[in-house]
Amino acid sequence: MRRGSLIQLTAIALVAGAICTAVALAIPWLPVDAGKEAHRIHFVFWFTTIICIGVFSVVAAVLIYSVWKFRAGPDDDSDGPPVHGHTGIEIAWTAVPAVLVTAISIVSAIVLAQNGDAGSNPLIIKVTAQQFAWTFTYPDGTTQGSLTIPEGRHTKLDITSKDVIHSFWVPQLSQKQDAVPGQHNFLVITPTRTGTFPVICTELCGLGHSVMRSHVTIMTAAGFAAFQRSGGKAPAGPPGLAVFQQNGCGGCHTFKPAAATGNVGPDLDKLKQFAAQAGRGPLATFIKESIVTPAAYVAPGFPEGMPHIYGSQIPAGKLDQLVQYLAAGSK
Ligand code: CUA
Repeated sequence: MRRGSLIQLTAIALVAGAICTAVALAIPWLPVDAGKEAHRIHFVFWFTTIICIGVFSVVAAVLIYSVWKFRAGPDDDSDGPPVHGHTGIEIAWTAVPAVLVTAISIVSAIVLAQNGDAGSNPLIIKVTAQQFAWTFTYPDGTTQGSLTIPEGRHTKLDITSKDVIHSFWVPQLSQKQDAVPGQHNFLVITPTRTGTFPVICTELCGLGHSVMRSHVTIMTAAGFAAFQRSGGKAPAGPPGLAVFQQNGCGGCHTFKPAAATGNVGPDLDKLKQFAAQAGRGPLATFIKESIVTPAAYVAPGFPEGMPHIYGSQIPAGKLDQLVQYLAAGSK
């Protein structure tokens, strides 16, 4: 190949690579990383992206150069010159990608092994998914509707489900893990940044899938110690509010006193009106029946009643608190 052609090819490759690099850097493709694991995963993304930009530049240069230099004239109906393979180039385009793909797999395997390592003293939190809410149980037995974890310590999530398959995902922590009934899956997170980030269900799990959300609050180690001393208390409010939040009622229902905006089930702000329509006894009786035996009366316009698990899941005392809370807050 002539020296001039080589310079032209190289120039095209550099321009293609520069454009690609600008696109890669100008757009914020990844969320901020809030954990060591996310940081490692982002490293793999960039490692792979840099290799891809290199390969793209070479391919684009050869393609653009060929279209430009070897274009046939308008009246040129002749066959092209007979060309046979080039052993040297074929060896190169087999060996180079093999080395690159092997490098990506080695880097990925190292990151995968590091991200699965919870160390010797992880904070273990049980994560339970159900239609359509998350609950988080701490080592001292307290249960919350959202996740609170300390910065700088390995946290091991023990993830399962009560009904169908869900999937736990926090974009800023980069990892996803399925929540499968009858099975325990684990996820290790080591937060490096304080803040509040969304917890999202990423497995289509029914009508309320899109509202099956919670949040994770990452605190400083000192803040988390104080949080644990307070018994992981939910923000002060009527006792029924805590029951409402712990059972994820807001995932499906709108209820203004709890700032809940779900729209899978009936609007609980209108419970009085629904009770009158249903004609199934006083308000509190109607609310309790709707929770314990949801199939007894399904509100018109809703294809199916609520899942049947709440009657056995919510202890009697808490159930009464919830019923009173809903009755007092509805119009
Ligand atoms: Cu749970 Cu989607």
